[in-house]
Amino acid sequence: MDAVTLLRNDHKTVEGLFKKFEKFGPDAQKTKQDLVERIVEELSIHAAIEEQVLYPAARQAVPEATDEVLEALEEHHVVKWTLSELDGMDPADERYTAKVTVLIEGVRHHVKEEEGELFPQLRKAMKRAELEELAQALEAAKKVAPTHPHPRAPDTPPGNVAAGAAAGALDRAQDTGKRTVRRVLARARGHG
Ligand SMILES: [Fe+2]
Ligand SMILES: [Fe+2]
Repeated sequence: MDAVTLLRNDHKTVEGLFKKFEKFGPDAQKTKQDLVERIVEELSIHAAIEEQVLYPAARQAVPEATDEVLEALEEHHVVKWTLSELDGMDPADERYTAKVTVLIEGVRHHVKEEEGELFPQLRKAMKRAELEELAQALEAAKKVAPTHPHPRAPDTPPGNVAAGAAAGALDRAQDTGKRTVRRVLARARGHG
């Protein structure tokens, strides 16, 4: 697999979650919250691996795409702020659906630019073997990427690589803890 295919697959996964979210009405609060939880995780990981691996590689391979990459970083920044507000937000909040809708609009715009401009430029500038190597680097970064948004953390190398791995380890530990608590609570309810 090459890097562009890997990232496009991530985009498809997220778009699938967006479509599901849009299908549910105001009564489906729990379902919407579950979807938002997955959106937060998918987008946090995806943003981190692009910032750590893709964007620095793109700036090197396609110097004329620097402005596009800088704009992409700003779009990520806004997305991560919105994600951080949604992370843990009460789905009964009257702003909840509006916030998700604005997030979806922002991400769709960003994905359109990546797939329409940056990715074709990358495919032109890089050899097949290089794109495959880049995919391996993205896969490796995925394994340690943060699963929650960290909008205040550095988003360019070298700061983001070290901070991202530390945040990723902590996020994953906390995710596991939360899942365990949820299982215990569900079991307690089942027996109660
Ligand atoms: Fe991106
Ligand atoms: Fe992307």
